[in-house]
Amino acid sequence: MTASQPSERAAELRQLLSNYSYEYHVLDQPSISDAVYDSLFGELKRIEAAHPELIMADSPTQRVGSALAGGFKKVRHSSRMLSLNDVFDRQDVEDWVVRMDKLLPGRKHEFFADIKMDGLACALIYEDGLFVQAVTRGDSFVGEDVTANVRTIKNVPLSLRRVADYELFLRGRTEVRGEIVMLKKDFAKLNEQQKASGKPEFANPRNLAAGTIRQLDPKLVAERPLHFRAYDLQRDNPAEVPTNMFAYGALTALGLTRNQQASVFDSLNGVMKFVDTWDQKRHDLPFNTDGLVIKINDRAQFAELGIVGKQPRAAVAYKYAAEQATTIVRDIVISIGRTGAATPVAVFEPTVVAGTTVQHASLHNADEIARLDVRIGDTVVIFKAGDIIPQVESVVSELRPKDSHPFDFEVTLKHQYPELKFERPSGEVVYRVKGATGPLLLKKAVEHFASKAALDIDTLGEKNVGALVDAGLVSDMADIYRLTKDQVMELERFADISAGKLVDAIAERKRPQLERFVYGLGIRHVGVQTAIDLSNHFGSLEKLAAAQIDELEEVDGVGEVVAESIVAWFADPDNEELLKKFADLGVKPTHEDRSRGALAGQNFVITGTLQSMGRDIAAEKVRSLGGVFQSAVAKDTTYLVAGGKIGESKLQKATEYGIKIINEAEFLKLIGE
Ligand code: IVH
Repeated sequence: MTASQPSERAAELRQLLSNYSYEYHVLDQPSISDAVYDSLFGELKRIEAAHPELIMADSPTQRVGSALAGGFKKVRHSSRMLSLNDVFDRQDVEDWVVRMDKLLPGRKHEFFADIKMDGLACALIYEDGLFVQAVTRGDSFVGEDVTANVRTIKNVPLSLRRVADYELFLRGRTEVRGEIVMLKKDFAKLNEQQKASGKPEFANPRNLAAGTIRQLDPKLVAERPLHFRAYDLQRDNPAEVPTNMFAYGALTALGLTRNQQASVFDSLNGVMKFVDTWDQKRHDLPFNTDGLVIKINDRAQFAELGIVGKQPRAAVAYKYAAEQATTIVRDIVISIGRTGAATPVAVFEPTVVAGTTVQHASLHNADEIARLDVRIGDTVVIFKAGDIIPQVESVVSELRPKDSHPFDFEVTLKHQYPELKFERPSGEVVYRVKGATGPLLLKKAVEHFASKAALDIDTLGEKNVGALVDAGLVSDMADIYRLTKDQVMELERFADISAGKLVDAIAERKRPQLERFVYGLGIRHVGVQTAIDLSNHFGSLEKLAAAQIDELEEVDGVGEVVAESIVAWFADPDNEELLKKFADLGVKPTHEDRSRGALAGQNFVITGTLQSMGRDIAAEKVRSLGGVFQSAVAKDTTYLVAGGKIGESKLQKATEYGIKIINEAEFLKLIGE
């Protein structure tokens, strides 16, 4: 047996390694282990070291090239590397089709759509199947020669694969255009390494890819895993590539990576379905994308449609709504949830992120505020991915107001909740209501929820609530709906009948009036009247929970402080959980619109004592008819109900504001008693 000649062996190894590389990087189906690859690679390197004349340009050992001298050479593109016009919705796409129809009347278009990769454009030139040059887009006419760096990209074939039907692409000049990206997983890994070695983290995969490709040292480039995805194939004779779908088939056959998702559609509806599908699924792709590319499939039609400015008429970039935006922090409000945890919420100037208006985000805890160093008045970058709740990503410190000062969590807690004491258990990031005040707070919250003006469960007064909380049967407001008669009977205070009564009374309140429920939640600054006004305005708990600050401020009596407090309450994850628990237990607040009641638009103040009913009942009657019960005379008071003699100053004010003064009998008539 004679050993094969070094030249033969080197050629075999090159072929084999190139196949393995294709399986690994393009097909993602390696047939051998890394160790086997490395070993064969080592052998090839040794042969080449001993016989430098055998080093071929397409040898896998040539991916790590030598340092470039100086900057990058300028290279003129064979045809311009164009960019695309952006479209944002179906209407824009329809308008685009109409424009094309005008130029090519009566001609049917077939559409081709692919994922748009967020990286940097690059052209790869192959001569007789051999990779000879890589050029960046540059100014669309002239780009930079980044051949040495692109050589290090493992899924760029150094020679095109020879496959029946596509052999003509191995003759003469073939240009492959595509995008250089860094895959999300590689980016994350690199940043982990940066972090571990105490170096600053990279901002995003696109910038890192662009920065890497312009590195002068290809060895450094080889350490940063870049990835190439082709989207175009060009020949001197355009007829050799009749459609974009054909180009994609050829690209795969020739050994290039391209998106497998690309598809052809014969109608706009098909295209729009593709748009919607990828809007949902794009976060699962291995690289970042900011949209889709939609083109005319037929390349002769594509060429016929021509170019306007820098953009071809026959293609558009469909852009998904941006998932990052900047806004200003108006305030940082701390909300106390059902577990006594203090959660800071940033309230923003409303801004649109990923298609929805965002105006608050949880800042999680004091440590997170300190980590971000976010302050009131700061401009922040907020981020929202898919359905995920918006988050503050970073602060734009250049735009920080001169008089700003770090947010002091403890001082703010003291200021916002002077009546409570807080502690931060060691090892925890969360401030909680301290020791005994915790259960006390819980008891107060449950009592408030059951109180007359709220859910009106009269068997659930101070003592019973105390007993239930102390026995561990109730740890939030929703828990009362879980109580069973047997559980309650175990408590000393209860017997068979009283326990049954309590459980029945609670069960009767499974469809509470929305305003009573909202009042019962105990949102800071939301009293009975505000709860009514909010309920009338929004009509459902879901709408109230999703309300924007500006919308809230449209409600009578709701100013900035109240609006922010409401927003912070609903943004607190603890409270979200509480509302979910209510829903899971079948508690569904309902709203009956009283804004058209007999007393709608009329505001009442009662002074003195009424003979026929207490103030609470009178207030309730007024509200049930759509009227507003006010505690003091104001400019918008309609009636002052005089229970007895009216004081001089009230009388004067009433006269000054033109308020009607009525007696009890007249009042009873108005409320239909
Ligand atoms: S086709 C005439 N397909 O997006 C240009 N481009 O603004 C036809 N890009 O310059 C380009 N993914 O760098 C096409 N699947 C894809 C793409 C893609 C990313 C980039 C490309 C182009 C820019 C368009």
